[in-house]
Amino acid sequence: MSTFDLIVQGGTIVTASDVFKADIGIVDGRIAQIGENLTGAMQVIDASGKYVLPGGIDSHVHVSQPSGDGIVMADDFESGTRSALFGGNTTIMPFCLQEKGRPLREALNAYHKLAEGNCYTDVSFHLIVSDATDALLGQDLPALAADGYSSFKVFMTYEDLRLSDADILKTLDVARSTGATVMVHCENEDAIRFLIARHEAAGDVAPRAHASTRPVAVEREATHRALTLAEVVDVPIVIVHVSNGEAIAEIARARARGIKVVGETCPQYLMLTADDLEGMDWEGAKFVCSPPPRDKAAQDECWRGIETGLFDLFSSDHCPFRYDDERGKRNRKGLESFRHIPNGIPGVETRLPILFSEGVMKGRIDLPRFVALSATNHAKTYGLYPEKGTIAIGADADIAIWDPSINRTIRHAELHDGADYSPYEGLDITGWPTTVILGGRVMVRDGELMGKKGDGVYRPARTRLTKSI
Ligand code: URP
Ligand code: ZN
Ligand code: ZN
Repeated sequence: MSTFDLIVQGGTIVTASDVFKADIGIVDGRIAQIGENLTGAMQVIDASGKYVLPGGIDSHVHVSQPSGDGIVMADDFESGTRSALFGGNTTIMPFCLQEKGRPLREALNAYHKLAEGNCYTDVSFHLIVSDATDALLGQDLPALAADGYSSFKVFMTYEDLRLSDADILKTLDVARSTGATVMVHCENEDAIRFLIARHEAAGDVAPRAHASTRPVAVEREATHRALTLAEVVDVPIVIVHVSNGEAIAEIARARARGIKVVGETCPQYLMLTADDLEGMDWEGAKFVCSPPPRDKAAQDECWRGIETGLFDLFSSDHCPFRYDDERGKRNRKGLESFRHIPNGIPGVETRLPILFSEGVMKGRIDLPRFVALSATNHAKTYGLYPEKGTIAIGADADIAIWDPSINRTIRHAELHDGADYSPYEGLDITGWPTTVILGGRVMVRDGELMGKKGDGVYRPARTRLTKSI
C-alpha cells in the first residue's frame, strides 16, 4: 500500500515566509508530509526547476451577478472558475448580491445552486449589502456570519447599490458584533453624478468620460470617509480596488491613527491608464471599470504600495462583460453614453501571471511577498486560513506549480473565460502556472485540463479577522 496519494517532487516550495527545496506528500486531499526524498505514492509529479506555491486565492471576483437592464455577465461559475484555475488559482471568492426588497438568504440559496456541481476551483462567498433594513442588520447578517458568510461588501457609489453613511455605520456595527469583515467600494456618488451631468450636457459621452467623471478626488474623499466611519465604530475594514497614491495616503494615515485596515489593489491599477479608455470606435469601453485606471504616476504609487507592504491583497476584481455584444459593453444605451457601459473588466486568469512577471521577475517583489499577496493574506483576511493559503502539514493540498522559464504573450484566444477580449492583449509574460492541484486532485497538468467541473466546492469562512495582517 502507498504511503501517499500524490507526491510533488523536487520543487522549490514557497510560502509567505520561506523558500526551500522539499517534496510534498499528500493524503486524502491534505498535505501530510513535507520533507526530503519522499517515496511511496500512487502518483508523482516532478516539479524540479519549478516553484511550488499555495494555489492562488482571488478574493475579489464577480460571476453570475445580476447586472440589470438586459446586461449579462460573461462568466458563470463554470467558465469563471475554469479561467481562474488556469491562472494558478484554487479558490475564488465571488459576491452574492442582495436584491432590494428580497431576503439575502434567498439570493444566497440561488447563488449556491448556480455554483453547485459547476466549479473547477473551491469557492467562498462575500455578501453585497444593498438594502440595510432592520431585519437584515438585526437578524439575517448575524445569522449568515455565524454560518460562514462573514464578509460584507458595501458601496458608496452606483445609484442602485450605494448605502448612506448611516447605513454603512450600522453595517460596520454588525461586523463589530459578529466578527465579520466589511469591504468598501470608495467613490463619492453625488460628486460622480454631478460630473456625469456636466459631461453629458457638453455632449462628452464617449468611454473616456467614464474616467473623467470618477477622478482621484472622489475616491480619496470616500476612502477617507470609509476609514473614518470604521474608526468611529472601532472595527477592522477592507478598502478594495485602490487605484492611486492619494487613496493610499489615506490608508497610511488611518493606520498611523491605529485603525485596522486591509488594503487591496488590482492589475488594472498597475498596468492600465485612463488613456486606454480613449480607443477608437468605442474600444475604450473594454477598459471601463470603477475606480478607473489613472495615470503613470498613480501606477507607480500602486507599485510602491505593493513593494512596501502597504497593500495586503492583490485581487483581480474580475467583472467580465463581453465587448462586442448588445448584452455587454456595446449595449444600445452604452453606445449613446459612457454612463450605460457596464463597469468591470475580465482578469481572473491573468492576475497572477502579471504579478509574477512584472513583480517577481522584474525584481520589484520577492517570492514570499508574491505568495502573501496572491494567497496567504486573502485566506487570513476572509477566514480560510490555515486550511488554505499556505503550504503546511494539515493544510488543503491546493498547489500551483510555476515554471519561471515560460515566455508567453497574453492572447484572449488562449484564455478560458467567457469574455471576448483581454485588457492585457499582447502583454509579454515571463512565468506561468503549468500544473494546478486542488485538494490533492491534479486539475491542470502541463497546461492540460485534467479535472472536471464539480471538483471545486463551496468552503465557508471559519475564522475572523481580528487585526491587520
Ligand atoms: O468596475 C468594477 N470594479 N466593477 C465591479 C464591481 C465593483 O465595484 O467591484
Ligand atoms: Zn467595487
Ligand atoms: Zn468588484
